[in-house]
Amino acid sequence: MYSEAKEKSLYADGIKLLQKNQFEIEDIDLLKEVINFADYRYYVLSNSVFADVEYDTLFKALQKLEERFPNKITADSPTQRVAKGISEKFQTVAHLVPMLSLDNTYNADDLIDWDSRCKELSGLNEIEYCVEPKYDGASISLIYDHNQLQRGATRGDGIMGEEITPNIKQIRSIPLRANFSNNSLEQIEIRGEAIIHKEVFTQFNAQRISEGQQPLANPRNAASGTLRMLDSREVSKRRLSAVLYHVSYFSLKAGQVMPESLKTHYDTILLLHQNGFPTPINEMKRFRHIDEVIQFCHDFEAGRDHLPYEVDGLVIKVNSIALQEKMGMTAHHPRWAVAFKFKARQATSQLQRVEFQVGRTGSVTPVAKINPVAIGGVMVSSVSLFNEDVVREKDLYIGDVVLVERAGDVIPYIVKALPEMRTGKEIPIVFPTHCPDCGELLEKPEGEAVWRCINISCPSQVVERLAHFCSKDAMDIRGMGISNVKKFYELGILNDIPGLYRIDWRRVHSLEGFGEKSINNLQQAIEASKTQPLHRLIYGLGIRHVGETMAKTLAQAVSDISDFYSWTIENYLPLEDVGPKVGASVFDFFALAENREIIQSLVEAGLNTRCQKQGSEGTSATFSGKTFLFTGTLSQLKRSEAEAMVENLGGKIATSVSSKLNYLIVGNEAGSKLEKAKKLTTISILSEEQFLTLVHP
Ligand code: IVH
Repeated sequence: MYSEAKEKSLYADGIKLLQKNQFEIEDIDLLKEVINFADYRYYVLSNSVFADVEYDTLFKALQKLEERFPNKITADSPTQRVAKGISEKFQTVAHLVPMLSLDNTYNADDLIDWDSRCKELSGLNEIEYCVEPKYDGASISLIYDHNQLQRGATRGDGIMGEEITPNIKQIRSIPLRANFSNNSLEQIEIRGEAIIHKEVFTQFNAQRISEGQQPLANPRNAASGTLRMLDSREVSKRRLSAVLYHVSYFSLKAGQVMPESLKTHYDTILLLHQNGFPTPINEMKRFRHIDEVIQFCHDFEAGRDHLPYEVDGLVIKVNSIALQEKMGMTAHHPRWAVAFKFKARQATSQLQRVEFQVGRTGSVTPVAKINPVAIGGVMVSSVSLFNEDVVREKDLYIGDVVLVERAGDVIPYIVKALPEMRTGKEIPIVFPTHCPDCGELLEKPEGEAVWRCINISCPSQVVERLAHFCSKDAMDIRGMGISNVKKFYELGILNDIPGLYRIDWRRVHSLEGFGEKSINNLQQAIEASKTQPLHRLIYGLGIRHVGETMAKTLAQAVSDISDFYSWTIENYLPLEDVGPKVGASVFDFFALAENREIIQSLVEAGLNTRCQKQGSEGTSATFSGKTFLFTGTLSQLKRSEAEAMVENLGGKIATSVSSKLNYLIVGNEAGSKLEKAKKLTTISILSEEQFLTLVHP
């Protein structure tokens, strides 16, 4: 997409723009170019070039200039993605070419049969196939006219879809302008899938649950529901991604001939990739023999959990477009492509009983205990039922045979009961009227689906609050998981959050299972938590409706946590994503004397309560929010030096390769970490040299 030289010059342009105090009309074009480049690096390559505040500065500068000079606004300006409001209803539009579905195969024999049919139809005895992931999301169609994104639509019934262009613009990896370099294309229709990454989905559902809303069933439903939301501002919050895997139509400008690049499927995808589109190019493989295809399908299925998004199979496509055209299609699907479906990660089991668990905010969650069953290699015996509405909606009874699904890292859920399997002995699920732990009468606030125990000293709540404070995304006190917290609480060694910083270690010494080493580790982890950034402390305090993102917004708004003491609700409302509900909740929290006392005790224990402003101290926030991992032997730096560099710049060191990792820095003789990282497309793999350029650009 961008040559190395172009990337360097755009980065330098960005820095120059950031140093300006005042922007003028002549900066508009460069601002657009730099922001589009930053979007591409961030959303398509997952490897950002500017810190968040820097990006925001550039974006706001462009917005202000466009306000002053509205005739300079173009349809491809990054500001034109900004969600504007609610559509009444979507218009139905005809697809340029029908959106067909794919025929399915489930095993090696099916694939061998399909290969024979392809050979028969084509008259060839060897065919080149392209294999790529079958993304589990919602299909979309995009039309670019003279390089400009003109229309985005859902699949609908395959012939007619719904026009959802404002929502498509919220998918930041989809370019508003395609710079097809040879400029021979007049119109092009591109097909693909809108998806939600597993991590985004999990966070999103956690947020919904904490707000007393129903969680969404799986990333696929979330993606397709999001695409059809009438308010594009809501869509922009859902962080959709996209992958584009098919060119279904193109027309050429007068006198132009078909570009060489559109003669094979692989080269078509390469062309899209080179023009800044998110594509499967890094996952695509080409084979000339069906046995190799089969082997790849099995290997890929074995590694599917390591992908950051859901796949439900692979798609095998004949590579030559001329051959695709020769083979044609049936009324339902192309003959030149087939899906290889992975084993469903669903199983049936019996619902034995329902337990009611009390969370840190007092919410009482029904949890189904089912006969243990293996789903996709993991034993499942406990499945959250979220709240009473879910139980009623699914019409569940104890003794029911239920269908359970577990999608990758996503928590398992009950799809439905199978009423045809009922014997008449099933019994209704009865919700408790009193807290199963402390016996307090439960309450259900109006408009919420969750029953709550309002006794703030309820033991389950206290333990859950403590465990939340210590959790990885909050104060990250390793070793203080729920079971140790519970043990310490029950023995009276730990009663509240400040108590963590004055544990009587002699008592811990006397406990079984606590040796010198584990106590040392715990003490160190507690000590280290004192320097955690303010947003982690705010998140850890467990204020209702304050997730990680909101905690960051709040932390950025003050220089010390005590600043909140003098805030009124009105002070909160201008902050991003803060509405009256969140504002009131945070206000109430800081107004409560008990909470101020807790904070005061934490200050006395030496905890950091000040906010380091992002970007205000030179480059200190360059790596903020990014995780790094080193593998192999570095030649210029010691491992510890390199890790310290990352931490000094606000980054974190990861312990293993996972979809959460941003950068893997590879030294000599790197091993399995590198192999694993290569399978995860969101990780940037850098040499030591490249890492040093990142540190000292
Ligand atoms: S090709 C004419 N490639 O699977 C070719 N489809 O069951 C049409 N899908 O409706 C599709 N990943 O939504 C193709 N790499 C991929 C795909 C893919 C997911 C979806 C698509 C389609 C459905 C077919």
